[in-house]
Amino acid sequence: MCGIIAAVAQRNVQGILLEGLKRLEYRGYDSAGMTVLHEGALTRHRAVGKVAALADCLEGAPLPGTAGIAHTRWATHGKPTEANAHPHHSGDTVAVVHNGIIENFEALKRELEAGGHTFTSQTDTEVIAHRLADVLAGGVGLFDAVKQTVDTLGGAYALGVMSPQEPGIVVGVRQGSPLVVGVGIDEAFLASDPLALLQVTDRFIYLEEGDMVELGAGGSVHIVDRDGRAVERPVRIFEYADGVASKGDYRHFMLKEIFEQPKVISAALEGRLGEHSVPAESFGPEAPALFAQTRQIQIIACGTSYHAGLVARYWLERYAGVPVQVEVASEFRYRHPVVAEGTLFVTLSQSGETADTLAALRFAKGLGYVGSLAICNVPGSSLVRESDIALMTHAGPEIGVASTKAFTTQLVALMLLTLSLGKCKTTPNGEHAEIVAALKTLPAICRQVLALDGEIEALSQAFAEKHHALFLGRGAHFPIALEGALKLKEISYIHAEGYPAGELKHGPLALVDSEMPVISVAPNDDLLEKLKSNLQEVRARGGQLFVFADESVGIDDSEDDVTVLHLPRVHEALAPLLYTLPLQLLSYHVAVLKGTDVDQPRNLAKSVTVE
Ligand code: M6R
Repeated sequence: MCGIIAAVAQRNVQGILLEGLKRLEYRGYDSAGMTVLHEGALTRHRAVGKVAALADCLEGAPLPGTAGIAHTRWATHGKPTEANAHPHHSGDTVAVVHNGIIENFEALKRELEAGGHTFTSQTDTEVIAHRLADVLAGGVGLFDAVKQTVDTLGGAYALGVMSPQEPGIVVGVRQGSPLVVGVGIDEAFLASDPLALLQVTDRFIYLEEGDMVELGAGGSVHIVDRDGRAVERPVRIFEYADGVASKGDYRHFMLKEIFEQPKVISAALEGRLGEHSVPAESFGPEAPALFAQTRQIQIIACGTSYHAGLVARYWLERYAGVPVQVEVASEFRYRHPVVAEGTLFVTLSQSGETADTLAALRFAKGLGYVGSLAICNVPGSSLVRESDIALMTHAGPEIGVASTKAFTTQLVALMLLTLSLGKCKTTPNGEHAEIVAALKTLPAICRQVLALDGEIEALSQAFAEKHHALFLGRGAHFPIALEGALKLKEISYIHAEGYPAGELKHGPLALVDSEMPVISVAPNDDLLEKLKSNLQEVRARGGQLFVFADESVGIDDSEDDVTVLHLPRVHEALAPLLYTLPLQLLSYHVAVLKGTDVDQPRNLAKSVTVE
């Protein structure tokens, strides 16, 4: 979604804001803009396209000044045009950047137009600027004007506001969209994500819902809560070193993040495995009591995280004996769920800021769940702070819009949950110790799979001219097929579908011909023979098959309608994790061949903070 950055410093802030925008670009990248206060006036540049376009404008006409706000946009209301790009101004009075959606903007707009305001954009944000201008005209100070204005807004927003009437201060508000304060030395900052500010500070204050903040001279930070009481929020040190937001020697963030998986899987396991089991305490001191009461699980997530939840259902039912339901957050939050006694509510999210997942958690709170567990990659995120307990996935910042290492570390966390709950329930299952041992060797096996990159790149040639693809899997590999298809469509724009292989004959087989590549994962498990029969059905219809198979699995690839790539042996329980890797690499190489924007695919954003 949109990214906000703001700075009040004793030096020129243009460079800080621009660097911050580059780091926020993963959130939205259809247009960008910046307003800086210069000699008592608001000065602004906006440009359609990537932040680089704004940088070009600034090179030609710099915006000097010690206080400024800036924005990178993911369009919700109005096309990506310069007029719709933020910051939005009301005359010379006030400038606003906004992330979120103002749900009552149409009514507010009518009122403001009737009051004489002329709108220059199609955005919902512009109503905020004009309403602020009206309140400021009544002699109210900027901080109070923002308070009075947000009291009339419905929906979700994080705002950064500045006005020449009070030069040298920036006001921020957080209501439903993320916002952090960066604490510098005699300077202060605001951003949607700490990553945007790592070049200037590693100290952050995570604002609570409803908080308002004023950044002022000498780095002063004044926060009031939703009831208007002055509050102190803790300053937290950001745990990742700077450099995480760089591609290093890799061509794209996505490739870097794929290759980081052995390392981050180790990090996700570190300190959480017992000799033969997973102690519930790995999930925090409150977890043993919570897990002891847990009779079933409801998992809620979106996109790739939802696919991780689907894999977990197979694991939790088989290895922990716990019934599981999995649902996408945008559906769950508008249902009327009947909650069985002893149900643990589990959310999965890379960002911890996905609006639907967060809303589902808030909705679930009144429904009688025994508690909530967030499995998340971003410490301090809303989801983590609002859940009863949380397990961090330790994937490190994921910049590529296509989720890769966040997914596999979620799977690691979910297997830890499976083993931990299985132990709590003392489900007799001799396999637990074997899986714990297998987890310890997993990073090394992942490295072996990543070493197949060259072969997968060669294979990707067969997809570059195709318009459709089918991904097949069975059992816990059905969600891996869904994830493979999502990755391919997301970054290469090839239409792809994931199916349980056994379902093929109930419809999708009609699509199969020589123009339809069919990709399947074939680990050596109980369902292998069934899967092989399904693959024969594809061959018999002239389909082109690409199979990622266990090294022990014999599939006749003597004909040129079948290509098989063998993967090393892994414990059956962990195969979904391992078989994800070649599918990620395949999508990546197809996208590179097609020349798409791999890290920032069209129409998408990394952190979906609007409904
Ligand atoms: O941050 P989250 O895990 O909550 O995000 C959920 C989805 O928006 C996300 O997984 C999305 O589907 C990815 N772009 C997929 O690669």
